[in-house]
Amino acid sequence: MEEEMDRNLTYRVPASTLVEVAKIAAPYRDRPEHLMKVVLKVEQIVPIFSQDVTAVISREMNIPQTQVYSFVTFYQMLYTGRRGKYVIHMCQSAPCHIRGAEEVAKAVEDMLHIKMGETTEDNRFTLAYAPCMGVCDVSPAIMINGKVYGNLTPDSVREVIKRYIREEVQ
Ligand code: FES
Repeated sequence: MEEEMDRNLTYRVPASTLVEVAKIAAPYRDRPEHLMKVVLKVEQIVPIFSQDVTAVISREMNIPQTQVYSFVTFYQMLYTGRRGKYVIHMCQSAPCHIRGAEEVAKAVEDMLHIKMGETTEDNRFTLAYAPCMGVCDVSPAIMINGKVYGNLTPDSVREVIKRYIREEVQ
């Protein structure tokens, strides 16, 4: 674990990638509630969240680097096991919760035959709880590989998942 942390601190991503990280984070300046969204997008272009990556996110979003680092560390703890092709993040923060997030989560679990934190046998879907994703105005919401789906009901979320099962979503 310590070794892993050292590796994260000393690894350097190419300058061109840092420019891309900055482009992702910049539109969310002074909007820390969007950190989850930024982390999900950035992880698609960096191998690890090294110190230089968290520094760029911090600078562009104007939030303390320690806050970014703690968030990323917490987020990565969710993934100690296998990770599917599609990672479904289900917001469980208060606004989503009071608007039916639990029923939506249950519908997805039943449909995929897995529980939160698990991955389907075929490695296609992973289910994970997430902190507020900054889209409370469309709660309850989920995010699949960074794409937001909001105002969900158990029926509408089943339709969303069906599209991923049929590989209809790019
Ligand atoms: S509480 Fe769910 S997106 Fe904010």
